[in-house]
Amino acid sequence: MKISTISCEPISGQKPGTSGLRKKTRVFMEPGYLENFIQSVFNAIGGAEGKTFVVGGDGRYFNRRAIQVILCMAAANGAAKVIVGQHGLLSTPAASNLIRKYKTDGGLILSASHNPGGIDADFGVKYNVSNGGPAPENVTEAIYEQTCSLTSYKILQNEMVDLGSIGSKKLGEMDVDVIDPVKDYKDLMASLFDFVSIRNLIAGGFTIVFDAMHAVTGPYAKAIFEGALGAPEGTVLNAEPSEDFGGGHPDPNPVWAKSLMDLMMSEKAPCLGAASDGDGDRNMIVGRGIYVTPSDSLAVLAANAHMAPAYRHGLAGVARSMPTSAACDRVAAKQGIKCFETPTGWKFFGNLLDADMATICGEESAGTGSNHVREKDGLWAVLLWLNILAERRQPVKTILEGHWAKYGRDYYSRYDYEAIPMDAANQLMDDLRGQLDKLAGKTLGSLTIKNADEFSYNDPVDGSVSSGQGIRVWFEGNARVVFRLSGTGTDGATLRVYLEQYVDTHGNHSMPPEQALKPLVESMLELTDLKGRIGRTEPNVIT
Ligand code: G6P
Ligand code: ZN
Repeated sequence: MKISTISCEPISGQKPGTSGLRKKTRVFMEPGYLENFIQSVFNAIGGAEGKTFVVGGDGRYFNRRAIQVILCMAAANGAAKVIVGQHGLLSTPAASNLIRKYKTDGGLILSASHNPGGIDADFGVKYNVSNGGPAPENVTEAIYEQTCSLTSYKILQNEMVDLGSIGSKKLGEMDVDVIDPVKDYKDLMASLFDFVSIRNLIAGGFTIVFDAMHAVTGPYAKAIFEGALGAPEGTVLNAEPSEDFGGGHPDPNPVWAKSLMDLMMSEKAPCLGAASDGDGDRNMIVGRGIYVTPSDSLAVLAANAHMAPAYRHGLAGVARSMPTSAACDRVAAKQGIKCFETPTGWKFFGNLLDADMATICGEESAGTGSNHVREKDGLWAVLLWLNILAERRQPVKTILEGHWAKYGRDYYSRYDYEAIPMDAANQLMDDLRGQLDKLAGKTLGSLTIKNADEFSYNDPVDGSVSSGQGIRVWFEGNARVVFRLSGTGTDGATLRVYLEQYVDTHGNHSMPPEQALKPLVESMLELTDLKGRIGRTEPNVIT
């Protein structure tokens, strides 16, 4: 087979964001666009020669073609082996597991996560390193530098590997192992949780509905819930991965998983409702008549994890992203373990997990996970909930209310203002930044500002510093608002406003969140003058 070296021009704008390179699918389909990025990854890691990689994606439009390109480039660059999921499918946590289990040099995950799929929607590529986690910033910087100076890439032209059948194949000199995408992941889950106890719970009449949102977790969830755990057929909804996620938006939150929410709030609600996103790393948990916010879910999981075999001996520590509520901090304090506060982005947990300083991590953006892989893991979160429910034998609602009674409640909501002009968004952040040292003591609406800053993270493991990670404003009376621009959007800017109001153990825990947060929202609107700046006060999405 002939290796072609194709001359190319550097391509601008290939800077990886919060989670890899995300662009419109049509951009990725432009001649040479994907090739430039992949060659830059190989160059940035010192070449692909002799290396082994895991490759797979969430099945969105362009997944299959992109994988063939990556395989042909890996072979042309001298890689020894690529492990790839059958039909090119791998959930993000499953890919992370394979990288670790088979001790590969890294992996390429094709996904734009929770963003819609299709030729007119989004695509993405992320490079993960040998610990199974997203590349840290020094690696993504090196990749970016390569994209800016690349002059050629290597590829085997007009070659294809049959990804439809499982088995060991050859592409030129390179081995290609096409594997069952589910098996290793299912084995990992069975090693962490008490499947017998969960099976008994389900056999005793406990009902679940899991919405795979036409995304990658369908086959995984069917094999685990309906297979290993004995839940009836039909437990997993929208289980067939489709290239455009059935025309939907595969983001498991109350807005995009509305039909599941409606079911859970109805008379016919099963005992547990859950959903996952495009690539299977996010999760949503809903009890009968009660939605569990991701921040609360993290706290409940941290408080009860010892009920699952993998965490029986307790947690080394917990970690959360800065905008996530402080609910898990309270659990950590009671358990006498550390709680780390990191910038948004799962990659920041990698060092803490590797150093065994944290066991469980979570983010308000519907991500929870542990040291079993180096990505957040949607099905893992559902299984840990199930394991806890199997031990406690109480409804989700009772568990949550009991948690608030013990720790107090962190009322929480995130407002997203999507597709706003980049200039207006940057201006708003700049103006807030400019006022930070003048805000203390200022009264806005009924609340007075206590303090404000811009979050900067000092990684306790490698000493690296990540600055400019979100503006925090604290108010008297245990309230906080955080402002951040999304790092994953592909259309203008998205302003995220994270709102949090703590009510202690004696307070009222049964208000609707919008009621508890109303004074804070009013202060936030006054502080930012959103109406004047972007002409609206209502967010597109509230989570
Ligand atoms: C991805 C990352 C998460 C992160 C999220 C934030 O999903 O994997 O770790 O929390 O992006 O997205 P944002 O749009 O707020 O930058
Ligand atoms: Zn995702």
